[in-house]
Amino acid sequence: DKDLSNVMVIFGGTGDLTHKKLMPALYNLRYQNILPENFAVVAIGRRDKTEEEYRNEMLESVKTYSRFDIDEKIWQDLSSRIFYKRFDFNYDNGYMELSYFLDELDRKYNTQGNRVYYLAVAPEYFGIIVEKLYRHGMVSNETSWQRVVIEKPFGENLESARKLNKMITDVFTERNTYRIDHYLGKEMLQNIMVIRFANVFFEPVWNRRYIDNVQISSNETVGIENRGGYYEKAGALRDMVQNHMMQLLTLTAMEPPVNLDTESIRDEKVKVLKSLEIMTPELVEKNVVRGQYVGYRQEEKVSPTSNTETFVALKVHIENFRWAGVPFYIRTGKRMPEKSTQIVIQFKPLPGILYFKEYKNLLPNLLVIKIQPEEGVKLQFNAKVPGAGDITIEPVNMDFCQNCQISNNSPEAYERLLFDVMRGDSTLFTRWDEVEYSWRFVDAIAKAWAEKTPDFPNYYPGTWGPSEAEELLRRDGRMWWNV
Ligand code: BG6
Repeated sequence: DKDLSNVMVIFGGTGDLTHKKLMPALYNLRYQNILPENFAVVAIGRRDKTEEEYRNEMLESVKTYSRFDIDEKIWQDLSSRIFYKRFDFNYDNGYMELSYFLDELDRKYNTQGNRVYYLAVAPEYFGIIVEKLYRHGMVSNETSWQRVVIEKPFGENLESARKLNKMITDVFTERNTYRIDHYLGKEMLQNIMVIRFANVFFEPVWNRRYIDNVQISSNETVGIENRGGYYEKAGALRDMVQNHMMQLLTLTAMEPPVNLDTESIRDEKVKVLKSLEIMTPELVEKNVVRGQYVGYRQEEKVSPTSNTETFVALKVHIENFRWAGVPFYIRTGKRMPEKSTQIVIQFKPLPGILYFKEYKNLLPNLLVIKIQPEEGVKLQFNAKVPGAGDITIEPVNMDFCQNCQISNNSPEAYERLLFDVMRGDSTLFTRWDEVEYSWRFVDAIAKAWAEKTPDFPNYYPGTWGPSEAEELLRRDGRMWWNV
């Protein structure tokens, strides 16, 4: 199954994701000449549209969201391979026609029966779509390959995730199931492993003996935009912590894998999730802070008495030999002062002698892995201020920014992920047991929250969340580093 030729079928072809991410990503791949030659796209939606209308809409989206300019010839080539079909996911007719149409495309574009089924629809349709694909003979797996791509949210708790998974795995094998977490497609997430395991000065100190604490933040300035309907049910815990934040955590904390194979890497990530301290309601009360910004309750499709959180800060421990006793602080929120995702590793001080005795205010060594918008690595350390007389010490920075010189040189997450689906590499997708253990951790928090009504709203837009989030670290003698 190394053959990349395929027809990509997008369920949810008129949706936001297709406009903003999928089509621009396909265009970017085509622009860089990475898209397979034998390729076509069938977009499926429930609205009436001609092919021409659909292609024109996509051109507008690509113009707006692609990181490359529109090259007329390239767009012509791609758009001539984009088809639009209208049907209701619940009825058989559409699938029958689709099946014929796909065979026709195989003949025309030499796509070999290979398929990527991209489910960019609400999760309640996942089950029916995969079942009907199967029933209409579109998942045969004999001389060709068929893969399914599933967007988040993957369930709303462990139980619903299990049900969802069962429906999918009744039809597709785990190997052909691609659960998207778009953070894994980000350049710097893949860099975490390289930084850790390709540098002698990080790997040996990456443990409880040298690390004081780890802070993982993903801050956004935007609110919930037009996604009130979805967000009301999700909240920051399900929307960000269950998936993206857990991916950042596992990559930071995992053991070196035995090799770089997909499963070896995923095995190590799962071990971290299995070692997470599962919180009792008392621990949740103490170590998890939830917030909601002022104005959230007035957003479209949001209840005026909503208790959905738009901010979470928490402290968790990883109960294994490498990390015992090292707190991991996680923070994510909407309407924060800045857009930034970063991992800060704070190192322990040296023994309290020499400079650590003389200079009370020495700052700790920090390693900052900057995920976005700036991509890079920053190292903070202590150095002497030039000059005669008494020594003065000051923190200085070594700052490597990989996207400062050439902007837009990093591929978009979806570009890489779509290409990986076509070449059959699932390393950057979530394996089922990752989903499972991550929900186990999140469910304990959600359960404790459900027992108590929060005092919302409790932070103003443009601030770093409720004051309890600062207190969470202050009482441990620490602070959030916004570096
Ligand atoms: C999505 C969430 O998965 O990630 C959004 O549903 C969030 O609420 C987004 O805004 C953040 O992604 P990024 O790539 O902008 O950090």
